[in-house]
Amino acid sequence: MEVLGIACSPRVRSNSTALLERFLEGAQSQGVRTRMVSLRTLNFEWCNGCESCSVTGRCVFDDDLTVLFRRLDVADGVAVAAPVYAMGMNALGKAMIERAQEYWARAYLLNQPPRAGKRRAFFISTAGTSLPGVFDCSLKTVRYFFRILGFRWGGEMLVSAVDAAGEIERRPDWLDQAGRSGARFARSLQHSEGWE
Ligand SMILES: Cc1cc2nc3c(=O)[nH]c(=O)nc-3n(C[C@H](O)[C@H](O)[C@H](O)COP(=O)(O)O)c2cc1C
Repeated sequence: MEVLGIACSPRVRSNSTALLERFLEGAQSQGVRTRMVSLRTLNFEWCNGCESCSVTGRCVFDDDLTVLFRRLDVADGVAVAAPVYAMGMNALGKAMIERAQEYWARAYLLNQPPRAGKRRAFFISTAGTSLPGVFDCSLKTVRYFFRILGFRWGGEMLVSAVDAAGEIERRPDWLDQAGRSGARFARSLQHSEGWE
């Protein structure tokens, strides 16, 4: 059983990535294999809106995101961590999701729905403010992403009022909670029955 973690922050000492790392450690503690990918280390193209995937079901680009998507196709669980930028998901994370348009095309235009089963997804986000609704836009976007890839919602961890690089390191309570969430997520993958 494998859980894939996708870190979307461009920061080196990223708050959301630190939470994701703890989450994955928690999952490992339950005997689940984990792998973490940082989008900031990948080379990939933006979706250019060519709509070829509407006809072929495949993206015209073949780059690091293609490799990541093929890994997602076989993962049992996924955890995405992305900061709030401009009141929504940051551009790096959103760019990945726009490149997943081929999944939407396959499911909704070409009658090729994603592999379902008992696959689940978890979302982690951090925001500098605690404004009401600060996570709303990101949540909508990431729910869409998980749905088109065939993952059921497995929970979220949303931490507001954490801003400076590395600030989360001074919040062991949140880091511990991320670890507990990862362990619970792994157990839910191991014990859930098929969905469909
Ligand atoms: C370009 C930019 C835009 C941001 N926009 C918002 C925002 O709209 N609302 C907010 O609460 N925080 C905003 N923040 C703060 C980040 O959400 C916060 O620093 C977060 O902890 C970053 O997570 P990371 O370290 O994982 O990248 C912004 C930060 C940057 C760099």
